[in-house]
Order: sequence, then structure tokens, then C-alpha cells
Amino acid sequence: MQSLFPASPNELDDSDLAQLYAYPLERRWVRANFVCTLDGAAQGPDMRSGTLSSPADHHLFALLRSLCDVVLIGAHTTRVEGYQPVVEDEMNEAVRTELGLAPVPSIAVVSRSLHLDPGLLRGGRAPTIVITTAAASADVRADVEALATVVVAGEHSVDLGVALDALAALGLQRILCEGGPSLMRDLVASGQLDELCLTLTPRISAGDALRLAHGAAIAPPAELRLRHLLESDGELFCRYDRN
Ligand SMILES: NC(=O)c1ccc[n+]([C@@H]2O[C@H](COP(=O)([O-])OP(=O)(O)OC[C@H]3O[C@@H](n4cnc5c(N)ncnc54)[C@H](OP(=O)(O)O)[C@@H]3O)[C@@H](O)[C@H]2O)c1
Repeated sequence: MQSLFPASPNELDDSDLAQLYAYPLERRWVRANFVCTLDGAAQGPDMRSGTLSSPADHHLFALLRSLCDVVLIGAHTTRVEGYQPVVEDEMNEAVRTELGLAPVPSIAVVSRSLHLDPGLLRGGRAPTIVITTAAASADVRADVEALATVVVAGEHSVDLGVALDALAALGLQRILCEGGPSLMRDLVASGQLDELCLTLTPRISAGDALRLAHGAAIAPPAELRLRHLLESDGELFCRYDRN
């Protein structure tokens, strides 16, 4: 992998990447990470994202997980992709040790329905956090609370500002949102997204796949600024932040 912008002829190793993607330390920071085709599809032919990914994208995905305190994720993606607690084998241990991070990040799932896999709820080396609404079913919520930490943020829809403040209050400031598009739309619309890491896979798929943000139009559109552009085997790794 090498940097096209700013231009550099050197191959980047994991230590370079960890520096390039370092979180600011002074405040809560919300980074999102997506992979899309050139025509904007955020779902592969099987309606999952893994089929869009490459070994280089997978490597960066793991490195970004290695830098964060918590992975924020929409409930539908956990159901489609079979999300489970993060395990140590997936982590770059040296990076986490150097940054003084817990062995693995927690998963924080945003859900109104609370239809979530018990294996995910039980957590692993780190507890799973469920972010929901006051209107969620009390019975289902009691079942979820027996397994996971529950944060109530908002009446009928999760108020992401309140939710992210609650994560920061738990000491989880370095936030990595792995989607999906509906949660991403709400993050952007609520002004809570600080940064987007976008892998552009050199394919065109057409069809009805979701784009990386799905839902009501955001007006005016959020504007982002390119911070760096990396390349590996024709695949582009863009990093934008809020303008
Ligand atoms: N290309 C990529 O990088 C990438 C990344 C992630 C996902 N994906 C793909 O995207 C698809 C899933 O995306 P999606 O947009 O359908 O789902 P999603 O954003 O993962 O999840 C939507 C669900 O999250 C909960 N939710 C989100 N925002 C909420 C809010 N403000 N208040 C309350 N609940 C909220 C609700 O859960 P409940 O239904 O439980 O109430 C909602 O139904 C999958 O095919 C996945 O493979 C692609």
C-alpha cells in the first residue's frame, strides 16, 4: 500500500498506517469505515459487504478495529453479517498495547427492535453495549439487560448525540462505525460523523444495492475534505474528515 496523496514512494507498513489513522486524543471522535464499488454499491451480490472486500481492505479493516475503543454498528448489519464480539486474534496487539487500549474493543449495537443474537449480547473479552430507545419493549429490554449493558438514548429513535456522549462517559472515545447505511445516514444527518474511511473497489455492479448512506436526503449535503488517499492493486483507500 502506498500514499498517492500526499504523494510518497514508500510502501506503508502497519506502524505507518497506525500513525496515519491515529485518533485525535483530545475529544470524542467518530470514524466510519465502508467499502463500496465505483458505482456506489455498499452491498455485494449476496447483499453483504465481505464480497466487496479484498485482502488489503480486510487488513485495513482489522487495523482500524485495532485503533478504536468501540465498534458502533446498526442492528441490521449485525443480523446480516453475523456479528460476534471481537476476539484478540483479529487485533494488532502491538498497536493496542502501545496506545494503552483494552485487549479488544466493545461492540455497541444500535437497535430499536432489540432483535439481537444472544452470542453477540453476551460479549467476550469486552462487554457488548446495546443502544436503544425508551419506546423499546420493556420485556425484551429486560432480557437484553441480563446479558449486555443497555444505554437508552431517545424516545422513539436513538438520539446519536446522547448515545455517543454515553459511550464517551464509559471511557469509549475512539469510535469506529462499521455501518450500515441507515445508521450512517443518521450519523451524518445528526452532525456526529467526524471522519469517513472509504475503500473504493474497482468494480461496477449496478443493481439495487444500498449506497453507504441510506434514508431521507440530507440537505444541504454534508461536505467532507480529503485527508489522504492510499492505493494497493488498483484499490483506493480514501480518508475524509468533516469540512
Ligand atoms: N459496504 C460496507 O462497508 C457495509 C458496511 C456495513 C453494512 N453493509 C451492508 O448494509 C446492509 C445493512 O444496512 P442497513 O442500512 O439495512 O442497516 P443498519 O444501518 O446496519 O441497521 C439499521 C438498524 O439499526 C437500528 N438503527 C439505526 N439507526 C437507528 C436509530 N437512529 N434509532 C433506532 N434504531 C436505529 C435499527 O435496528 P432495529 O431494526 O433492530 O430496530 C435499524 O433497523 C447489509 O447488507 C450490510 O451487509 C455494508
